[in-house]
Amino acid sequence: MTPHINAKQGDFADIVLMPGDPLRAKHIANAFLTDVIEVTNLRNMLGFTGSYANRRLSVMGSGMGMPSASIYARELFSEFGVKKIIRVGTCGTAKADINLKHIIIGMGACTDSNINRSRFGGYDFAAIADYQLLACAAVAAKKMALKSPFRFHIGNLFSTDLFYNPDTTLLDLMRQYQILGIEMEAAGLYSVAAECGTQALTICTVTDHLQRQEKLSTDERQTSLNDAIELSLTTAISSYTDL
Ligand code: HPA
Repeated sequence: MTPHINAKQGDFADIVLMPGDPLRAKHIANAFLTDVIEVTNLRNMLGFTGSYANRRLSVMGSGMGMPSASIYARELFSEFGVKKIIRVGTCGTAKADINLKHIIIGMGACTDSNINRSRFGGYDFAAIADYQLLACAAVAAKKMALKSPFRFHIGNLFSTDLFYNPDTTLLDLMRQYQILGIEMEAAGLYSVAAECGTQALTICTVTDHLQRQEKLSTDERQTSLNDAIELSLTTAISSYTDL
């Protein structure tokens, strides 16, 4: 047991899917895994372990923002033997060629947070996904998109501390620098994985178009995340067998 996770040693698999919302973790566990047990519920940040494609796999919420996600990722990596975390989340976009429900695979993550400078001696840390997980996700996305069409993009994310950002010029900057998705956790998750010598990846569904002021309804948010969940599960499994 750690300050934020009331599980026992061995309760978690070595790979964890990590949505922001603990109830989404419950949904993923119940809808996609078999032989599910709840392994942690401290502060209602639910975590489950079950099986998918004959492999033991866990799923746990991260909460919103880099401080929350970094705490859970750090405790999973350093105290529970977790080796790989795949964040499966949502993001906004400012790009004209990206639409709602598209999937963004986060190769890297910029940030307006000071979290990585605090951790990395005051220098700018290049927060990047683990290449093996990224390569597996790219292959899995291509195969899946051929069978049941969805669009996916691979590139840079921007992890922000401010969901409601008063800086109205920010979207121009994001577009100019080819930022595909704006979310709130990846840059923190990637540096924690680097610190712990483990692997991390972020896969997001676009739920908000910040330029066109479009957003998915609450119902659409639930159902449209299933492609990203399936992609994350396939990536998880193939990361043990394919490369
Ligand atoms: N900004 C930051 N995080 C998000 C957004 C957004 O527009 N949409 C989903 N997560």
